[in-house]
Amino acid sequence: MKEHQGSGKDSMAKILNERFQSNSYSLNGVDGMKVIAFNGSPRKNGNTHQALEIALAEIRKEDLETELVQMGSEAIHACKACGTCGKNQDQRCIIKEDQVNDWIQMIKEADGIIIGSPTYFGDMSAQTKAFIDRVGYVCRSNGGLLRRKVGAAVAVNRRAGSLTTFDNINHFFLIAEMIVPGASYWNVVTALKPGETPQDTEGVATMQSLGRNMAWLIKRVQ
Ligand SMILES: Cc1cc2nc3c(=O)[nH]c(=O)nc-3n(C[C@H](O)[C@H](O)[C@H](O)COP(=O)(O)O)c2cc1C
Repeated sequence: MKEHQGSGKDSMAKILNERFQSNSYSLNGVDGMKVIAFNGSPRKNGNTHQALEIALAEIRKEDLETELVQMGSEAIHACKACGTCGKNQDQRCIIKEDQVNDWIQMIKEADGIIIGSPTYFGDMSAQTKAFIDRVGYVCRSNGGLLRRKVGAAVAVNRRAGSLTTFDNINHFFLIAEMIVPGASYWNVVTALKPGETPQDTEGVATMQSLGRNMAWLIKRVQ
């Protein structure tokens, strides 16, 4: 990890100028920095998608590259607890019938990840949980592949449970030695039918501050 003295816009301008001078400034993002958001809702264009997009838009404004993966519509197997990922040390899960291994490779290249989930019966969606168990076990058993990446949770609910969803996704980031930025509120949105996210103005403001803080943090831990 590079260390930078000072803080604020002046020091960031200095850092970016140094990178420009050394030809290390990428037009795709600052030094190719990238955030991938995984949507754990089966509804492709639902409220979780909208919430994630609001955060990602702020991240793009800071010149980081972003990608949104529609994870929740895929059939994702649960972890078999076979331990093969730890024995083989190949940074892969033995289950090959789904996309989890592709996503692990993508995450390895990313500087930050956001995991978004709707709240189902007071917790994250089953897809999100299977994703976390598989990705988490492979990364943990292969030397800590997520260490010091930046992670953020986004949880959506109609009425109650989003804080549990938010907390439980954060449990994953913290045991993986990831760095978690804050926002102007906990990263939750209240919405029911697809497309209602913009009606939750405080939720929108929270997603925007999350995006800004995530980009700020990633630039500094690089
Ligand atoms: C199976 C299921 C369980 C749900 N459980 C909860 C719940 O416990 N609490 C809540 O407030 N909303 C609950 N909801 C509502 C969703 O969290 C809400 O509609 C959310 O906006 C869905 O996000 P999406 O559009 O990204 O799929 C549930 C919805 C479904 C389909």
